[in-house]
Amino acid sequence: MAEMAVQGSARDRQIEHAPALPPLVGDYESRRRTFSWEVARSWLQGDEAGHLNLAHEAVDRHASGPLADTVAIRFLDRAAPTTELTYRQLGERSDVTATALRLLGIRPGDGVCTLLPRSPELYLTVLGTLKAGAVYCPLFPAFGPEPVVERLRLGHIRLLVTDSLSYTRKVAPQRASLPDLEHVLVTDADQSGEDGAPEGTTAWADALGAGETAYDPGTFAVAPTRPDDPALLHFTSGTTGKPKGAVHVHEAILAHHVTAEFALDLRPGDVYWCTADPGWVTGTSYGILGPLSCGVTIVTDAADFDARRWFRILQDERVTVFYTAPTALRMLMRAGVGLAREHSFPQLRHVVSVGEPLNPEAVVWGLEAFGLPVHDTWWQTETGAIMVSNFPGMPVRPGSMGRPVPGVDVAVLRQGADGRAEVVDGTVRVLGPGEVGELALRPGWPSMFRAYLDDPDRYAKAFADGWYLSGDLARTDADGYVWFIGRADDVIKSAGHLIGPFEVESALMEHPAVAEVGVIGKPDPLAGEIVKAFVTLKVGHEPSPALARELIAFGRHRLGSVAPREIAFDQALPHTRSGKVMRRLLRARELGLPEGDLSTVETSVSTSASTSATTSAS
Ligand code: WT7
Repeated sequence: MAEMAVQGSARDRQIEHAPALPPLVGDYESRRRTFSWEVARSWLQGDEAGHLNLAHEAVDRHASGPLADTVAIRFLDRAAPTTELTYRQLGERSDVTATALRLLGIRPGDGVCTLLPRSPELYLTVLGTLKAGAVYCPLFPAFGPEPVVERLRLGHIRLLVTDSLSYTRKVAPQRASLPDLEHVLVTDADQSGEDGAPEGTTAWADALGAGETAYDPGTFAVAPTRPDDPALLHFTSGTTGKPKGAVHVHEAILAHHVTAEFALDLRPGDVYWCTADPGWVTGTSYGILGPLSCGVTIVTDAADFDARRWFRILQDERVTVFYTAPTALRMLMRAGVGLAREHSFPQLRHVVSVGEPLNPEAVVWGLEAFGLPVHDTWWQTETGAIMVSNFPGMPVRPGSMGRPVPGVDVAVLRQGADGRAEVVDGTVRVLGPGEVGELALRPGWPSMFRAYLDDPDRYAKAFADGWYLSGDLARTDADGYVWFIGRADDVIKSAGHLIGPFEVESALMEHPAVAEVGVIGKPDPLAGEIVKAFVTLKVGHEPSPALARELIAFGRHRLGSVAPREIAFDQALPHTRSGKVMRRLLRARELGLPEGDLSTVETSVSTSASTSATTSAS
């Protein structure tokens, strides 16, 4: 797979940048020497019996202390006045939410989902679910009906919080196929029943009203969860098969907290903005839990991206730490540095990025726009928290993801023929600096996923010889900085979101004209990659721009934001001997790369057979 494109000399620079505030616990080198997860455990509360609850550590710890009247979350909304909750209020409102969930019969271990925009109800559901000892699972609001229903089913979700429109459009038609789904709460109805919540749902207001009535602050108790009880379920995508439900446990908060402090530099008094949607893991670990545990004020905006609005928020809210993604930074860059300079950000101290390769140009652009280099971080749904980072105070190497989090061991492992780490007689080979291989982590950090839900085989395959295998290709340099090379598999990264090709292919296969599909990530200057589908038509159907448009609309209707943006017709898709479409070859052709070893390809045809019609959705 090709190394990310880098222009100019940005990559060869090293940016020395003194942090505006000294790090809370010494510099990187000394942290790395002295840090242990056992010591960090003493920074949290828990109880004498050894219980630990994620929501208690994130919120209640501050709800009665010196931060009680500090604003925990400020909710910005283009269409409504700004509202706020202090730590004390957030502590109490999430108690009430937990009480409401318990009244509805939600028990420890039950699955609770949100399908919501950034709204108070979302944050209360996250914290209330955890306080009730249940398992919280976010869903991305831009998902179409198929990914939503699939995840509700796979997660055995018992309660969903959403709005009326999302419910009636995405869930109601398939409700009968979701036997585990007992309750749906809708946030936009004043009351249940006539003219209120849609049939089969309950008004959030009613459920919370009941919780309010039953709530007694004197007797309310957060569920006594053990550190290794399940707390969070995050669906992620692999190359084949169904979405994978990565299970995280309550002690993950330890990693959320430590990394929010070490890598994001968060501390009380900060105003922090994370632009990730709470429907994905970043929006949970670093949009909610980690920052709250550090006692900061979170700013959250319900509106979609708008460069001018974003610069205004950074300025007017006096944001001190900004965590965003390369796609968003590229969109800000596109708006021009002049727009940034119309604003001023004297409070801004640290700008951080995650989710996809960060162009060295974007790192350097940060210097022009904010006077700060952008600090890249790397992690995954499975790792639950940041694993590699350009730490505040450490020289930034543009193009590098940084160095391992203290307490985390990273290695690059020699690849086998399939691109993944090679295991010979149960052992792997650790490569030295400069050599490209699969990026691996030594298990032991608290936010490591503990299972793929209902899929122990897949979980076991994620490990070899005592290492967790990330599926990413990387190299290290002589100073231990980690450099991203590409994915070792076929998953697609579009605007920072991981998309499983199989899920997209399966949805398109349901169209009557489609015989077979292969889906790839096509490089895109803004989103990093977009989804492109190569389609073989059934007999009796002819390629045409109209049919391509129809397929794009079909995909969008079913899949929502993860649908293909481009379709190419190809009556001779390349296959492996075992009959699988060779996405790798499709991608190599798309990129104009050498086709490599084609020994496992059965139908290898020239590119002229394809692209008789290519239609783009944008
Ligand atoms: C994959 C994980 C990042 C947490 C939320 C998304 C890619 C992540 C970087 C980076 C290049 C990156 C990797 C990784 N990725 N960070 N800084 N540079 N690539 O988690 O959806 O599980 O995606 O995102 O390919 O494996 P995810």
